[in-house]
Amino acid sequence: MDRSSRNRLTERLLPQFPGETLFERLARSVCRAGCLPRKELYEAWEVARRIRRRFRGGRVVDMACGHGLLAYILLLLDDSSSTALAVDRRIPKQAAKLAVCLEECWPRLAGRVEFVERDLIQVALQPDDLVVSVHACGGLTDLVLERAMMVRARVAVLPCCHDLDTGDMGGLQGWLDGPLAQDVLRSTRLRERGYRVYTQQIPGDITPKNRLLLGEPLSP
Ligand SMILES: C[S@@+](CC[C@H](N)C(=O)[O-])C[C@H]1O[C@@H](n2cnc3c(N)ncnc32)[C@H](O)[C@@H]1O
Repeated sequence: MDRSSRNRLTERLLPQFPGETLFERLARSVCRAGCLPRKELYEAWEVARRIRRRFRGGRVVDMACGHGLLAYILLLLDDSSSTALAVDRRIPKQAAKLAVCLEECWPRLAGRVEFVERDLIQVALQPDDLVVSVHACGGLTDLVLERAMMVRARVAVLPCCHDLDTGDMGGLQGWLDGPLAQDVLRSTRLRERGYRVYTQQIPGDITPKNRLLLGEPLSP
């Protein structure tokens, strides 16, 4: 199966996920909702697994959440996070359908993800939040990092759509390609602000924008 496909997962594809693993059950829920591109399921899953290997607990704040799948998976993988806030300035209509399908399959998730249609700059964060964002385009990733650093919250981002005209490359573009230079600077900025940094990748067959940057404050 092409995991990078932008085709929507629909009930027609249910037979592709016949088993009882958590991922297959999740994939079947997403197929029933019928609103997400295949790639988004794999991205959110691979990002969430890696985040949960490092960071447990805390309120999840999924910035630029789209349909909010990442928030749901992070709760599924770690019940010690009791709630999630899913923030986007335009929540897609079908997010509600996805929520119904996921909550039907996992009733314990019901009511634990709150969707907020708002600019992410307007969301109040707390130090024990886990701030996450997948594909916050261009400078929006920097805003997510900045917001998290301001309250010294843990943060994880999968950047995309690097803007080579306005994004900071720190003069590194003679050695590194522009998007990589920007992500290196992002990790450096986290370190300078007293964060321990973890750099990882999700599988490149899902998306070429596969660099995952995680940071946790060394001290409160
Ligand atoms: C590429 S989509 C990513 C959606 C989702 N995270 C995913 O991986 O499928 C970028 C999202 O950012 C949202 N967005 C853009 N600017 C924003 C802002 N200032 N505040 C909140 N959301 C924003 C858009 O509405 C869009 O849903």
